[in-house]
Amino acid sequence: MPNPDALLYARHIEHRREEIDEILTELGYDGLLIHSGRPENRLFDDQHPPFRGHAPFVSWVPEPFTPDCLLELRPGQKPRLWYCQPDDFWHLPPDGPASWWADSLDVEIVTGPEGWHERFAEQRALAVIGDERAVGHLLDGADLNAPELMWRLDEARTRKTAWERECLARANQRAVAGHMAAARAFRDGGSELEIHLAYIAAVGQDQDQLPYNAICAVNEHAAVLHYQHRSPRRPKQSLSFLLDAGADAFGYAADITRTWTGEDNVEFAALIEAVDRAQRQLCDEVRAGVSFVDLHLRTHLAIAGILEQAGIVRMSPEDQLEAGISSRFFPHGLGHFIGAQVHDVAGLVDAEGQSVPAPEQHPALRLTRELEPGNVVTIEPGLYFIPSLLEDLRASEYADRVDWAQIDALRPFGGIRIEDNVLVSQGDPVNFTRQAFATT
Ligand code: GLY
Ligand code: MN
Ligand code: MN
Repeated sequence: MPNPDALLYARHIEHRREEIDEILTELGYDGLLIHSGRPENRLFDDQHPPFRGHAPFVSWVPEPFTPDCLLELRPGQKPRLWYCQPDDFWHLPPDGPASWWADSLDVEIVTGPEGWHERFAEQRALAVIGDERAVGHLLDGADLNAPELMWRLDEARTRKTAWERECLARANQRAVAGHMAAARAFRDGGSELEIHLAYIAAVGQDQDQLPYNAICAVNEHAAVLHYQHRSPRRPKQSLSFLLDAGADAFGYAADITRTWTGEDNVEFAALIEAVDRAQRQLCDEVRAGVSFVDLHLRTHLAIAGILEQAGIVRMSPEDQLEAGISSRFFPHGLGHFIGAQVHDVAGLVDAEGQSVPAPEQHPALRLTRELEPGNVVTIEPGLYFIPSLLEDLRASEYADRVDWAQIDALRPFGGIRIEDNVLVSQGDPVNFTRQAFATT
């Protein structure tokens, strides 16, 4: 039986090769070298943050944690991978390439980057992608991270191959197992740290392997959009829990958020349900030809509608959007591309590489494009009670349109975000996250 992963990966490489051959030929390059990255020590220290390979490399080679490899791409040739297996007794060297993927490449094992300079120095029409500190020695006449080339590669990465879609679906399955374990730990009254450890155990990946720092927020911490701590103290009351946490599959990310509360908290539970309903509707609108900016604005109308319905803001959704009131409760963007980077590339340019910035009133939006088949996006509406933004609202001319007693009662719950990862297809959207919850 052929390994199905090998087949999908081989097709992925074949497809990306056709694209890169065309790009290199058009731009007049003889070849392209993509470095996997190298850990860099902290200033005045011999310790470095956890290593993760550069995404342009990981989008070709399914090993996100292997430093100092070099991928060599040349028109018409099988990609060559200089795979670094150092002779190092301080660390455990990588296992070496697995045949299911290595067979699609021409692999050369090396013990370090030493001979690279001599090999590539004389080659003038060469492009290099990497960090100058690590690949500067390859640069005699070569172009480093050339903008036109980078844009063309980024553009290709916006349309996921079947292999990439499979990786994203698997990353979602892993993360969902973690989300379910974390929800149980929250219901048991666990501390943020205990909940996080339950998540890690269920996912089977350490924090260093996760695609981003998990946001594990109990009670009012859910109002901090990128809350970065994990308190070891058990809460006196476990009112609410927002978990924004992902997982990795061969370098591809899941980025999932769920918000939970106890059954007794009727008002907050009703708000979660309303945001969830709006989120599912938005996921259904993830279709080819849809403008993500329009979808973001529809999200504001939906959040404003929830606020009006709950009697929190006495104003029509349209007027709330116009007056910037919905942005006090939903200050981030609807979503972003996701792939080998959790916030994947090319969200703020059009298909010709021209910049398409976020609307002035919505500066946090990371995706302004029209959706195309093959795009994978997150859909993550939120509704929060953020003290500083509420103070701004209280000081504004609209203060008397707001039910402050209700807001004060909801502040200890922090906020709500529901986030799924959704594929734009030729027909109905494919929601990797909801599929994973349905089968886990
Ligand atoms: N986890 C960060 C985000 O949702 O974009
Ligand atoms: Mn997230
Ligand atoms: Mn996200």
